[in-house]
Amino acid sequence: MSPSIGRQIAVIGGTGPAGMGLALRWARAGESVIIGSRDAARAEQAAETIRQRIGDSTRVGTRTGVSAPHVSGLENYAACAATDLLVLTIPFGAQATLLKELKTAIRPGSTLIDATVPLAASVGGRASRTLGVWQGSAAEQTAELVPKGVSVVAAFQNLSADVLNGDDDVDCDVIVCSDDSKALAVAMELAVKIPGIRAIDGGKLENARIVEQITALLIGLNIRHKGHGGVRITGLPGTAYRSA
Ligand SMILES: NC(=O)c1ccc[n+]([C@@H]2O[C@H](COP(=O)([O-])OP(=O)(O)OC[C@H]3O[C@@H](n4cnc5c(N)ncnc54)[C@H](OP(=O)(O)O)[C@@H]3O)[C@@H](O)[C@H]2O)c1
Repeated sequence: MSPSIGRQIAVIGGTGPAGMGLALRWARAGESVIIGSRDAARAEQAAETIRQRIGDSTRVGTRTGVSAPHVSGLENYAACAATDLLVLTIPFGAQATLLKELKTAIRPGSTLIDATVPLAASVGGRASRTLGVWQGSAAEQTAELVPKGVSVVAAFQNLSADVLNGDDDVDCDVIVCSDDSKALAVAMELAVKIPGIRAIDGGKLENARIVEQITALLIGLNIRHKGHGGVRITGLPGTAYRSA
């Protein structure tokens, strides 16, 4: 599948397993990815790890002016300012504070894809339980915190980072929710760049509250059965499923 020319995906919190896994898969698909971190050196280290995994030959950074790297690392604020396609992969407990810090860096008109799950683990509780979120979901909290004109999409919450960071196809559907049809289409397009994934339009952003809960169920099942389970939605007409 060909990448979109000139597009850069900034993965905020991209040094963690979820962000690294998504970045790895998109880089493999030919997308240009920026790893975001609170620490620029850590971001660059994560980018180097991905470059090594995909055997990227363009290791010389833009800072030298020699060639644009396929995967680069930047501090989160600079990563947000560098592109209008953002993916958020941070613990729920950090979400509100970080988004407030990044607010002035997020470009008007950006698409922000939120994979955050409000797991109780992010405040010291169990990973198989979720926290109540006043806005209804982590994604709706994000929508409340980003600058006006930024489109928020909820996606990728049900994908196991262990599977994403492997080499096998991902046996999972991605349910994509947004109030903005164009942003939703972008997220669906990115989802199907990961081999094995089917993307499904899950409707309005408010449905993210249900999708986020599924993650807690999956974590519980994976602990109980020692696996890496995902979800497949069956029985919809073929037109409901988008795949590569
Ligand atoms: N892991 C999974 O299998 C999985 C699957 C689906 C969805 N998710 C969701 O995706 C999100 C990320 O998951 P993860 O497992 O990758 O999480 P994580 O490893 O706990 O955190 C991801 C990154 O967030 C940054 N971070 C941590 N605490 C922060 C803070 N207080 N302020 C700002 N940044 C902070 C860290 O990057 P720096 O230290 O480099 O800044 C860290 O590497 C979570 O909401 C999770 O529920 C996870």
